[in-house]
Amino acid sequence: MVNISEQSDASLITRPAHVAIVMDGNGRWAKKRLMPRAAGHKAGVGALQKIIETASTADIECLTVFAFSSENWNRPKMEVSILMDLFVSSLNKYLPELIKAGVCLRFIGDRSAFSEKLISSLTEAEKRTRGNTGLKFNIAMNYGGRWDITHATKQLLLDVQSGSVSQDDINEDVFSRYLSLADLPAVDLFIRTGGEHRISNFLLWQCAYSELYFSDTLWPDFDGEHFLSALQCFSGRQRRFGRTGDQLEADIQPQQKA
Ligand code: IPE
Ligand code: IPE
Ligand code: MG
Repeated sequence: MVNISEQSDASLITRPAHVAIVMDGNGRWAKKRLMPRAAGHKAGVGALQKIIETASTADIECLTVFAFSSENWNRPKMEVSILMDLFVSSLNKYLPELIKAGVCLRFIGDRSAFSEKLISSLTEAEKRTRGNTGLKFNIAMNYGGRWDITHATKQLLLDVQSGSVSQDDINEDVFSRYLSLADLPAVDLFIRTGGEHRISNFLLWQCAYSELYFSDTLWPDFDGEHFLSALQCFSGRQRRFGRTGDQLEADIQPQQKA
């Protein structure tokens, strides 16, 4: 069992600055209980609320969750419609709490496909939390990593055409400024619940060097303790970024002596 107070002690674990979560398993959670899939999605919102609290307590700087992928339009119309309604109602329900907790909300993805009602809820939530200095909480809706890269490319091309960026100056750093979440650290820890071992077109660029953590727990059952276990696991990983383990240890030793 992982103790929250222990986890809050920065000396005990290496904390990821940015955690991304694919919240998967709502439908199976409901099916196991002979309930409609919608009940699973509703329970999923409750689970998310607890994870936001835990992430804030654990001093995580940024949390980005996958709520609706560009591919999820392929689901039955009724399920898509239920999800869209749930986004509006959940935002209305939880926004006051999020504001109180100092959370800064941002939505990433192509919102042009959404209803005016949903678009104005998203814009309003962003506006009302913009100045908050607590957890940076990002919700990916109608988001796809390929969409993000394509969209960034188009924006960059516009700047090349207008002359504000020279083609010769384009490099990874310049390109990444056109992507979603460009101002935030890259994703350190990528969590997927629900037992599937895939990225499903989530933050492809931003997760290039993430530590991956897969949990069999279905999203509505994923609680604070599960989240802290993922953090604990992350703190035991050696992030090499191309270097050898020996190189890393050689770098770390002088710091330990100091
Ligand atoms: C994730 O749960 C939520 C969304 C994709 C909106 P699923 O609905 O994919 O749940 P499973 O995978 O069918 O159990
Ligand atoms: C990924 O889950 C998207 C979200 C959690 C919003 P899916 O359940 O849609 O992913 P696939 O289709 O099984 O890969
Ligand atoms: Mg799924």
